Amino acid sequence: MTVIFSGIQPSGTLTLGNYLGALKHFVDLQDDNDCYFCVVNQHAITVPQDPITLRKNIRSLASLYLAAGIDPTKSTLFIQSEVPAHAQLGWILQCISYIGELERMTQFKDKSNGKEAVSAGLLTYPPLMAADILLYQADLVPVGEDQKQHLELTRDLAERFNNRYREVFTIPEVSIPKVGARIMSLQEPMKKMSKSDENQNGFISLLDDAKTIERKIKRAQTDSDGLIRFDKENKPGVSNLMSIYSLCSGKSLQQIEEEYANKGYGEFKTDVAQSVVEVLQPLQDRYYDYIDSTKLDDILDAGAEQANKVALKTLRKVERAMGLSRNRKK
Ligand code: AQP
Repeated sequence: MTVIFSGIQPSGTLTLGNYLGALKHFVDLQDDNDCYFCVVNQHAITVPQDPITLRKNIRSLASLYLAAGIDPTKSTLFIQSEVPAHAQLGWILQCISYIGELERMTQFKDKSNGKEAVSAGLLTYPPLMAADILLYQADLVPVGEDQKQHLELTRDLAERFNNRYREVFTIPEVSIPKVGARIMSLQEPMKKMSKSDENQNGFISLLDDAKTIERKIKRAQTDSDGLIRFDKENKPGVSNLMSIYSLCSGKSLQQIEEEYANKGYGEFKTDVAQSVVEVLQPLQDRYYDYIDSTKLDDILDAGAEQANKVALKTLRKVERAMGLSRNRKK
């Protein structure tokens, strides 16, 4: 069975970008694979977080995983900080990472740009992410496009470790969706949609109500030529809305172009909003069923137990290979 790992940060309520670029695909993968899905809360603290909000976001994210269709009888769902091996292997991988390669990560550059005080954790985030993946000997990591560079580093670190010590890690492949890999901000369509964007109109939260979704899509930036045509470079706003519409309605980009050939942006936006509402409403109903329930805690307890078992096995192999052990046997 193919082992799959992916994680999402509880750094705010998930956006439609997180859903279309990642979460939606996780659900499709769980039937035929051995899947691990994680609330990566230790990644979230690489930038300042308010403790009360973080606690709320952790529960909320776990509920969203389940509401989106992650089935705990098929997949292991757990919280990163409840599996100490992540931080332990993260440290080990930091020790085989080079500062230069970490400084070259575009996410580090973006998130540290213009900031006076940047945490060391923001720089060493990629080795922790590598640890998340390598602990489960993942074969495949489904992510949005923004994580591609971190995945390449994960592969480099795994190969470096295997060459330097012994073959411990599986080298993971990255899986990036063809459409929706990079859903853009509704306000600045050259920038990706992010849950921590200060501009609330830039993203659709998975918990936004129908009116808010309609308002945000109506205000979405387009252009002045009035044509509904997919052209990311010259028409980034319209192309972004077309990707969203395609993924939420199941219509192809070509079908959309044909259907709206003689129609204006107003009608198009109304239909885009309607398709998003139709996807999110049932998800929201399920979400409110989980958020304050004890069944959520039961699922996360069982997930942590299973994840700890697997992760510890890999960690012990790593420690033995490196000599971090007093055992006589190799
Ligand atoms: N705009 C996006 N389009 C498609 N996929 C996306 N992902 C994130 N944004 C988009 C994918 O969602 C998964 C979880 O991401 P994450 O929360 O771990 O971190 P992130 O990539 O940094 O996401 P955000 O929303 O931008 O969070 P903040 O604002 O906290 O930095 C990943 O698979 C990611 O590729």
